Amino acid sequence: MNLKDKYIEFFVSKGHKQIPSAPVVPENDPSVLFNTAGMQPLIPYLMGEPHPYGNRLVDYQKCIRTNDLDEVGDKTHHTFFEMLGNWSLGDYFKNESINYSFEFLTKVLNIPVSRLAVTVYSGDDKVPFDQEAYDLWLSLGISKGHIASTKEDNFWAAGETGPCGTDTEIFYFRSEEEVPEVFDTEDDRWVEIWNNVFMQFNRKQDGTIEYLPKKNVDTGMGYERVLAVLEGKNDNYESSLWTDVIELIEKISSKPYKGNEKSIRIIADHIRTAVFIASDDAGIKPSNKDQGYILRRLIRRAIRHAKKLGIDINSSWERDIALLIIEKYKKYYEELDRNKDVVLEVLKSEKEKFNKTLEKGLREFEKKSDKDIDADTAFHLYDTFGFPIELTLELANEKGLNVDIEGFNKKFKEHQELSRTASVGKFKGGLAGNSEIETKYHTATHLLNAALKITVNKDIHQMGSNITDERMRFDFNCDHKLTPDEIKATEDLVNKWISEGLSVHKEEMKKEDALKIGAECRFIEKYPDIVTVYFIGDVSKELCGGPHVSNTSEIGHFKIKKEEASSQGVRRIKAIIE
Ligand code: ALA
Repeated sequence: MNLKDKYIEFFVSKGHKQIPSAPVVPENDPSVLFNTAGMQPLIPYLMGEPHPYGNRLVDYQKCIRTNDLDEVGDKTHHTFFEMLGNWSLGDYFKNESINYSFEFLTKVLNIPVSRLAVTVYSGDDKVPFDQEAYDLWLSLGISKGHIASTKEDNFWAAGETGPCGTDTEIFYFRSEEEVPEVFDTEDDRWVEIWNNVFMQFNRKQDGTIEYLPKKNVDTGMGYERVLAVLEGKNDNYESSLWTDVIELIEKISSKPYKGNEKSIRIIADHIRTAVFIASDDAGIKPSNKDQGYILRRLIRRAIRHAKKLGIDINSSWERDIALLIIEKYKKYYEELDRNKDVVLEVLKSEKEKFNKTLEKGLREFEKKSDKDIDADTAFHLYDTFGFPIELTLELANEKGLNVDIEGFNKKFKEHQELSRTASVGKFKGGLAGNSEIETKYHTATHLLNAALKITVNKDIHQMGSNITDERMRFDFNCDHKLTPDEIKATEDLVNKWISEGLSVHKEEMKKEDALKIGAECRFIEKYPDIVTVYFIGDVSKELCGGPHVSNTSEIGHFKIKKEEASSQGVRRIKAIIE
């Protein structure tokens, strides 16, 4: 049985329910482009909301971290990784958490205790030294010399605000050499393999920390790293996880891994991540902004390295690699198979697009590369030849040249602002109809949210929403399929409110005041101190940036077209206005 399955099986045997991996593109959290940790989709539950699966959870979550995109190519960096995680939502705390981790590592994976070391929180004036974690490790047989404590590295938070806590990190000694008696956190023969966060705090916008309603545990173990460590490899790409992918790239390029590691790793990593982004149900396509731009950069960088290895770009190399990746992972992520055709098409069409300019761009680069690359050249390469900045940077680095990144970023930003203004202008003029209809859908969404609380359950909240000029989609928590009567009652209530001609107005207020008056809001932590609340008659008050109609009578007739499951405990309504 492989590590992922062993992990799930172990925690299920300890009363945890397995939850499915959430999409890589967060459904309800616009503050991040991708999920970067297993806990991210669980933030509302760590903050106190009950989880439909209970209070002991386990999963493997697809994660994407692209801050280090240009570092991929070395032995340890990936843009995509799977995080194995287990959670206690107000159930067990330090004792069971530490015991479970220890049991899994020493009894299931059979790691000798002597090869393990841990760190615990060293304490400051607010939160004391974590004596409890220290004593627990000691009682399990970790020697005193193998327990260190730090301040910065033993406090974990997903972002500036939100759930956080002190943690204990577990390290494994990956080396043939003798295990030292004293664990030195600076010695890189010790590799961190697991992080158990004791999540009992919430960091607020002003930086202050308050207790969460419940004490939670959030743990994370990076699958690819742990696998490499356990197999005794210090190059993650040499673990069994990658063998077939690397061999395929060797075959396609007729180049051995040895001597071509960087390009082969980049192709392997970037195509895998591109496959996972493109297969996500969010439907991301290569573009020049947000997730789409990340997807574009990954594919283009992979193409450039394929070219570097001498692969015929016009052959089906990217398709063959993608098919292998889909085959490997589809057992765990069914969307890979379901969206296979989309993935292959995304890769192919982006390849064809870039192929048209790559050659010319490379020639242009050659022409300009007798000296450092200034901002104009870098921007010209981006704007005319579609070279993402890291590609230019990489080409420059290979020749020992510098790039004026700051200057480029300035130009890039100016350009983005210009095109944003241009598209807003276009939107106002030519597409005025669309903007109006979307505004109507916005207001209808608030009415639907309010109606469901009356017709189905007062604890229903929005879990996600999406509006086009043709329909609205609304996700909400609900433990059952809506009955035809519930659907009809909901539709009728929304239409009643529309026909009553309720006035819509907004007020700016302090976040606390919005909460006090019971305004509807998810992820209150993500909002600034002053928020806008939209009121519709006295039937709805909700935090929102707008825009909305000024009177519900403008909306038209509301009709629910479909009600279906979105994910476990979450239902989805698709509705139109006629
Ligand atoms: N959320 C913790 C991490 O990502 C477990 O390290």
